[in-house]
Amino acid sequence: MIRWTVPAALAAGRWALSRRRRRRERARPVELVPWAVAGAVAGVSASALTERRRATRLRGRAVLITGGTRGLGLRLAREFGSYGATVAVCGRDQDRLDRAVAGLAGRGIRAHGIQCDLADPEQAKALVDEAAERLGGLDVVVNNAGVLRVGPRATMTTEDVEDAMAVMFWGPYHVARAAWGRLHESNGSLVTITSIGGHLAPPHLWPYACAKAAQVALSEGLAAESLGSGVRVTTVVPGLMRTGSHRGVVFSGNPEREYGWFALCASLPLLSMSAERAARRIVRATVRGHGYVVLTPAARLGMAVHGLAPGLTQRVSALAGWLLPAVPSEPDVRWGAEAGQGASGRALHTLTALNEDAGRRLNQPSRAGSAASQDDARESPRRPG
Ligand SMILES: NC(=O)c1ccc[n+]([C@@H]2O[C@H](COP(=O)([O-])OP(=O)(O)OC[C@H]3O[C@@H](n4cnc5c(N)ncnc54)[C@H](OP(=O)(O)O)[C@@H]3O)[C@@H](O)[C@H]2O)c1
Repeated sequence: MIRWTVPAALAAGRWALSRRRRRRERARPVELVPWAVAGAVAGVSASALTERRRATRLRGRAVLITGGTRGLGLRLAREFGSYGATVAVCGRDQDRLDRAVAGLAGRGIRAHGIQCDLADPEQAKALVDEAAERLGGLDVVVNNAGVLRVGPRATMTTEDVEDAMAVMFWGPYHVARAAWGRLHESNGSLVTITSIGGHLAPPHLWPYACAKAAQVALSEGLAAESLGSGVRVTTVVPGLMRTGSHRGVVFSGNPEREYGWFALCASLPLLSMSAERAARRIVRATVRGHGYVVLTPAARLGMAVHGLAPGLTQRVSALAGWLLPAVPSEPDVRWGAEAGQGASGRALHTLTALNEDAGRRLNQPSRAGSAASQDDARESPRRPG
């Protein structure tokens, strides 16, 4: 009996000792430091490698961004340009276009500005030809330009819906048709910036929601027939982003109150994403050839719930619509830069500070009355008919 009990006891003792040692070792965090450092170094190197790969893939590429004079489009131009791409941006206003191009050139980015009103089909087609000529081809086209009018449905005219469709559906349609052949030659990418508003229609954004839904179908339809075409199609679905766009939005009905809720939602960090982060994710998705990008957790959640229970989301939207400002007896209409002056209140100014900062960084119209706003002077927005 002694023959096997002694070795067994010895083995058990060794096992208990090594277990104790292992436990003690585990309890000494200092010894984990080299592993943590090695992990961090590996992480940083992998991310540097990815960055370098992105730079290699974009260096010298020709990128056209519609509506790159301000907001997200301008941030995208900076992001593509920072990896060595040559960019062309467009917009209606020559002064704003010049400011955007000068800002890009100041960052060492090769940039071209092309004046164009995308609501005119001929100008939309000509934009693609001119961009391809100036850039020496086209590798990436980003359909980004958009217009927004916020207010109750009763203050929206047929022209408002037509305007939204002209810029956000027909413009991208003509640009995509004109660019497709060139993108096929270059094995390029067509990226369309749609909106969560194209998946579930929010209240007080009726023309926008109609146009964005059509734009989603345009991008998804092109993607559905893109396999083997050599063109990569990316549909981007942003939720709210802090691009400072609220200053250039037209508010109707009770402009100050409409401005209040809209500017607030578009500014809160939990609901909205910074334009910088959004642009980084869009450029990364373009380089990797991702087909679909949903930009904020709130947008992802909204799409999921709408997919499962569309009746529920419709009811929630109706409830939100009921809570929003009603049509006043004398409806008014104003640009955000002006409505924001009237919608004073310290709390609102504090809560919208992040989006105001974004507006300053991203070439948005200044507050009404400021010196810079004289340059941004535009014709009065159309009154509700
Ligand atoms: N900001 C958000 O929270 C949000 C959320 C979801 C989706 N999106 C979408 O993301 C895109 C960019 O939004 P953003 O916030 O950056 O908008 P933004 O600041 O209002 O910029 C819109 C851009 O489109 C251009 N544009 C408008 N109408 C045009 C026309 N007829 N012809 C040529 N260019 C025109 C504007 O240039 P000019 O004024 O100089 O002509 C401007 O450069 C839009 O498609 C928008 O719908 C935005």
